[in-house]
Amino acid sequence: MRVVVVGAGYVGLVTSACLAELGHEVTAIEIAPERLSRLQRGETPILEAHLDELLPRHTTSGRLRFTDSYDPVCDADVTFIAVNTPAGVFGQTDTRFVRAAFEAIAPRLRPGATLAVKSTVPPGTADAFAERLPDNIVVSNPEFLRQGTAVQDFFAPDRIVIGAQSQSDADALGCLYQSIDTRVFVTSRCSAELAKYAANCFLAMRISFINELSHLCESSGADVDELAQVIGADRRIGPDFLRAGLGWGGSCFPKDLLATIDIARLAGVPHALLDAVYDANVRQRQAAARHIADATRGCQRPVVGVLGLAFKPETDDVRGSPALEVIGCLLEQGFQIRAHDPQAMPNAAAALPNITYCEDAYDTARGADVVLLATEWPEYIELDWQRVRELMRGDTIADGRNALDPRRIAEAGLRYRGFGRASTTLASAIFEEARR
Ligand code: UGA
Repeated sequence: MRVVVVGAGYVGLVTSACLAELGHEVTAIEIAPERLSRLQRGETPILEAHLDELLPRHTTSGRLRFTDSYDPVCDADVTFIAVNTPAGVFGQTDTRFVRAAFEAIAPRLRPGATLAVKSTVPPGTADAFAERLPDNIVVSNPEFLRQGTAVQDFFAPDRIVIGAQSQSDADALGCLYQSIDTRVFVTSRCSAELAKYAANCFLAMRISFINELSHLCESSGADVDELAQVIGADRRIGPDFLRAGLGWGGSCFPKDLLATIDIARLAGVPHALLDAVYDANVRQRQAAARHIADATRGCQRPVVGVLGLAFKPETDDVRGSPALEVIGCLLEQGFQIRAHDPQAMPNAAAALPNITYCEDAYDTARGADVVLLATEWPEYIELDWQRVRELMRGDTIADGRNALDPRRIAEAGLRYRGFGRASTTLASAIFEEARR
C-alpha cells in the first residue's frame, strides 16, 4: 500500500521504517530542514536498535523516501499523523502540530483514503477530524512502542488498537498490519485515544506504588524485591514494572500523566490517584538526594559520581531523566557532580553544561564521596568494586535502580544504599565486619 507518515520524529520514523520492512511504499514528511537532510543522506538521527539497518535498507530499496512536501498525500492510501504532542504550560496536551498537520493533509486526501492519527491526542481529536472529512476514513491508531526496543515492539506488539467508526473502516487500516500476528482491538476512536493515556498512567502507577512500598519496606524490615516477586506472581498483577528506584522518567510517562490529569480536570472528574502517582515520583528523586546529603554530611564540597544519565538504558534520551533531576537537586545544594553515560553525554551536556563528564565508570568514581547508579546500563552492574573503592574519597554506593549486588559492594568495603532492600541491612553488617 502507499503510505504517508507525517512527522519523522521518534514514532514517525520507527513506524515508517517498519512499514517499509512490511513491504509498503512509504513517504515520511519531515519539515525540520536539518533532520530532513540527515535522513535524506541516509543518517539515523536517533539511537534505536535496528533502525540503522532498516533505514539504509529501505532508502536503497526505494520503499522509504523522505520529503518536506505534502504532495505525496494526494496519492496515499493511508496517511498517518505522527507529529509530536508536547506538554503545554499547564500540562495539557499541546495539539498545535497535530492540527497544523491536519490542515496540510485535509485538502490533499483523495476521497476514500484513510487518515490515521498516531500522535497521542486527547479523546475527541479524531472525531473532530472525521467531521471535517466526510469523504474519508478517519481512525485512531495509538502506539505503544518503548524506546530502545521500538522496532522489536512494532513487529511483536502485545496488541494493535484501531479506533474506528465501523469494522470496515478499521479494516482499511488493519490490512497494513496484516502480517503481524497479534490481537487487534477495534474500539471507538475516543476509547483508542484514551487507552494510550491510560496505559502509560497505569504503568507509572505501578512504579509509584512499588516506590512508595519501598519506604514501607525500609521502616518494617521487609524487602521490596521479595515483595515485588510475590505480588508479581499473582496472574492478576503480573511481574513487570515493579522495580523500585529513582522513579519513572522519559518523554512519555510524565507528559501523558499530566495530560490525563488535565483531561480529567476539564471533564470535572476526580483525579486524586493520578496526582498521587505524580507526587510519589517527585518524592522519589528528593529521597535519593536526601540519602546522598546524609551520606556526605560533614564533607567539604561533596562530590557525587553519577553513573547513567539517560532516562533508561539503551537510549541516549535524557528527557524527564531521573538522573538529571537528582543532579539538579544536588547542584542546588552545592554538590560537585562527575558523571558518565555510554550514550547520553552529548544530550546531557546540552541540559547540564556545568558538571564534569567522565571517561568511564572508574573515572566517575575518582574522588567521589558517593557514587550514584542512576541508569542501570549493563556495563555498570559488574564493576570491579575494589577498584571503585580505591578511586573514591568516600565509601557510599547509592543504588538508584536496585540493580546492584549489595553483598559484592559491601565485600569491597563500600557502604550500600538501595531503595527498600532488606539486603541493605545485610550489606551494612558485612561492611561493618570488613571494617573491623
Ligand atoms: C513508555 C511505554 O512503556 C510505551 O508503551 C509507550 O509507547 C511509550 O512510553 C510512549 O508513550 O511513547 P518508554 O518511555 O520508552 O515507553 O519507557 P519505559 O520502558 O516504559 O520506561 C519508563 C520509565 O520507567 C523509565 O524511566 C524506566 O527506568 C522506569 N521504570 C520502568 C522503573 O522505574 N521501574 C520499572 O519497573 C520499569
